[in-house]
Amino acid sequence: MLANLNVVLEGVAKSDFAIPGFNVFGYEDAVAVVRAAEELNTPVILMTNKVAVSHMPIDLLAKILRSVAESAKVPVCVHLDHATDFETIAKAIKAGYTSVMFDGSQLPFEENIEKTREVVRLAHACNVTVEAEIGAVGYSDPALNVNARYTEPEEAKTFAEKTGVDALAVAIGTLHRMETQGAEIQYDRLDAIEKLTDTPLVIHGSTGIKDEDLRKIAKYSVAKVNIGTALRMVFGNTMREEMTNNPKEFDRINLFQKPMVEVEKEAKKKMELLGITKK
Ligand code: G3H
Ligand code: ZN
Repeated sequence: MLANLNVVLEGVAKSDFAIPGFNVFGYEDAVAVVRAAEELNTPVILMTNKVAVSHMPIDLLAKILRSVAESAKVPVCVHLDHATDFETIAKAIKAGYTSVMFDGSQLPFEENIEKTREVVRLAHACNVTVEAEIGAVGYSDPALNVNARYTEPEEAKTFAEKTGVDALAVAIGTLHRMETQGAEIQYDRLDAIEKLTDTPLVIHGSTGIKDEDLRKIAKYSVAKVNIGTALRMVFGNTMREEMTNNPKEFDRINLFQKPMVEVEKEAKKKMELLGITKK
């Protein structure tokens, strides 16, 4: 069933598990993620990032993801990830996303607050939830020129209070698009942040988080854990193997089958690492 972030994350910040938000790029990985969630009887978040939006019109993505969510046996949030402009957010809300992220992490503090507030005003009027970012989670590729900055606990508190966001992304040592699990989590910083705010926390760049740290962060006020690269690697690498092993196969529906199964397994593994057990 279709749900917004508040429904999916209800009680999660205070629990010892966290809900993953997975970047998906179409029907195949969306269905695989929802199958994994149904196996564990857990809510899940399907996220659309900028790359997906540049490939497919947002209203078409919304239709695909909403329909996958509506037919799911568990609550599924359809979330727009890392939008940096109001126009894309308005389009996503109109198209039917139940949740949006406004990423003002590259803006000066006051401007980030101001723009996030505008998004919250629009989104909440439409029963759409809002995630925003304070501090800035960087990228493993320096050529992308993103300024990374750890979250200061005091500014997280002020930001959460002034914006009224439903979930708050914080920078505590992860980087986006790491292909190995090498992130060093700053637990002191996470601890200080959660002492100052009640807003559910979100961790980005979580492909780079070690298995033992995924288990550990879920016990903090972390409610949402964003994972993208891990599933993309599984889908792409399995697809390559399939093409190599079946050089005469040209039907992509056949080639998609194994990658879908492997994505489902990987999604389930991450859910279990985040403390989700079958209810
Ligand atoms: O917003 C999306 C995530 O932060 C994904 O990061 O691709 O490094 O797992 P990742
Ligand atoms: Zn992210």
